[in-house]
Amino acid sequence: MKIAITGASGFIGKRFMELGAGQGHSFVTLGRKNADVLWDANSVLDPKSLDGVDAVVHLAGEPVAQRWSDTVKDKIMRSRVDGTGSIVDALGKSKVKVFVCASAVGYYGFRGDELLAETSSPGKGFLPDVCVAWEAAADRAAGFGVSVVKLRIGMVLGRGGGALATMETPFKLGVGGKLGSGEQWMSWIHLEDMARLILFALNTTGLPSELNATAPNPVTNADFTRMYGAALHRPAVFPVPEFALQLLYGEMAQMILGSQRVIPTATERMGFQFRFPDLASALKEIYG
Ligand SMILES: NC(=O)c1ccc[n+]([C@@H]2O[C@H](COP(=O)([O-])OP(=O)(O)OC[C@H]3O[C@@H](n4cnc5c(N)ncnc54)[C@H](OP(=O)(O)O)[C@@H]3O)[C@@H](O)[C@H]2O)c1
Repeated sequence: MKIAITGASGFIGKRFMELGAGQGHSFVTLGRKNADVLWDANSVLDPKSLDGVDAVVHLAGEPVAQRWSDTVKDKIMRSRVDGTGSIVDALGKSKVKVFVCASAVGYYGFRGDELLAETSSPGKGFLPDVCVAWEAAADRAAGFGVSVVKLRIGMVLGRGGGALATMETPFKLGVGGKLGSGEQWMSWIHLEDMARLILFALNTTGLPSELNATAPNPVTNADFTRMYGAALHRPAVFPVPEFALQLLYGEMAQMILGSQRVIPTATERMGFQFRFPDLASALKEIYG
């Protein structure tokens, strides 16, 4: 399969391309630098860039894990909604049959202990607003006869990037600990399963248009902290109080303190098998 991809230089994109290349797929990268086709989320994509392309994987977006100033919030929203619009406009003038678009568990908002499957309603607030608009922009491709699959991605765990790259330093220094009450649910997925799930979405017909990209066993932050400390052979006994996180990250702290208990009901029903269904197996693979 010839696959056009945005976000190829990112944490997920890099691993996905390695895995896909190993299975014989070829790629056309669309991006701001070092790409086959120069493309920025707020630019128009020449549909000719998709000549001969079978599928598009769209991962590009301004990083969310940063302090949310008004400018940053605008970039987070526009890079996703306008970027997706730009890709979908080109899809409408192409022969591409499949469009796999990133979304996030942020779609559901923060809902305590409630189990959140693909059919759950969206939440309220900035992140749900971003995800709802992002998914609506992607769904427009269905009007052109393209199969659209949005992957609602949880916290991706893997070596060399993502959430673990930021968490590692305090834990390695022995000053890691639970965040806030530690009761909040964390929905996560191993990077390998994330890359495999994108390939699954590309290769499987008859999928629903939303799949949760989260392992079937979310954990509370307290359990995550204990298991993560153990995986690094470090104590994890220094809790970080809620006010400190709010001071440090402002509004973005809600991503760390908010609870999301997401389960991949449709993903498993459609036959995807997680290689790392529980946190212990995921951390063992990552840290040995
Ligand atoms: N990783 C996670 O835990 C996680 C969780 C939930 C959802 N997601 C979503 O999954 C997608 C991929 O995540 P990731 O972790 O791989 O992201 P990442 O490592 O932050 O990479 C972001 C990618 O988007 C590109 N990009 C950013 N702004 C752009 C713009 N204005 N125009 C064109 N390209 C732009 C970047 O390209 P440059 O090299 O040009 O900067 C980079 O390739 C994102 O949409 C993210 O929101 C990720």
